[in-house]
Amino acid sequence: MSEILLEVKGLSAGYVASPVVRDLDLTVKAGEVLSILGPNGAGKTTTLLAISGMLPRMSGSVTVAGQEIHSGRPRPTVKAGLSYVPDDRALFRTLTVAENLKLAAKDKAGVDEVYDLFPRLTERLNVQAGLLSGGEQQQLAIGRALVQRPRVLLIDELSMGLAPVIVEALLPVLRRVADETGAGVVLVEQHVQLALSISDTAMVLAHGEVALTGTGADLIAHPKKIEAAYLGESSAA
Ligand SMILES: Nc1ncnc2c1ncn2[C@@H]1O[C@H](COP(=O)(O)OP(=O)(O)OP(=O)(O)O)[C@@H](O)[C@H]1O
Ligand SMILES: [Mg+2]
Repeated sequence: MSEILLEVKGLSAGYVASPVVRDLDLTVKAGEVLSILGPNGAGKTTTLLAISGMLPRMSGSVTVAGQEIHSGRPRPTVKAGLSYVPDDRALFRTLTVAENLKLAAKDKAGVDEVYDLFPRLTERLNVQAGLLSGGEQQQLAIGRALVQRPRVLLIDELSMGLAPVIVEALLPVLRRVADETGAGVVLVEQHVQLALSISDTAMVLAHGEVALTGTGADLIAHPKKIEAAYLGESSAA
């Protein structure tokens, strides 16, 4: 059995008094990809923010490889092995590709591995991040998370603003990262079928609660269940 890398128990989080995400549990093992799906406003981004500690939790706990992740402590969080790619990518737009990676990198070998994974970046080394195409920016954002050598990688809406053909090319890279580095990957994604095709497990959130969970293969085979879950009708996979 592979090691549990991310364990979230009883997570509730939100922005005012009442939680937007309620009593959420999830686990991700080494080398696994988990997709979090669900309609707009379901609480997907809130879930990732609360897991990464960028948003204080109302209740619940998060551990990465057994180590507890506390809210509001970005450095210890990265050190514990959790890296987060937000939906706006949060690149240093006036710094070059090489500078963005160097700032985040633990070691040079990690940067070279990112260039192997995304050869296009090697052609854009001295270009400011803000001048890259959307797909190139997303490659850089993922690369910047990977040079931190995460054990758990959280990615919010990889596909935001990208053409489907680019998303089709980028998603398998995350599968490769999970397979080759043994990291656990948590992906929030709107392209349901594409996301499921690279996922070991998936959950659909609706109104801040888990409406459906299953393996990627099960859920691909049962699109009606996913449709029902998007409408907030609970069922087991
Ligand atoms: N900063 C905020 N302040 C107050 N409420 C917020 C804030 N951010 C999100 N919300 C509310 O929390 C709920 C969940 O939002 P969240 O961004 O987590 O959804 P999501 O599933 O990521 O949606 P999308 O698919 O549109 O990205 C929504 O009702 C939203 O209006
Ligand atoms: Mg979101």
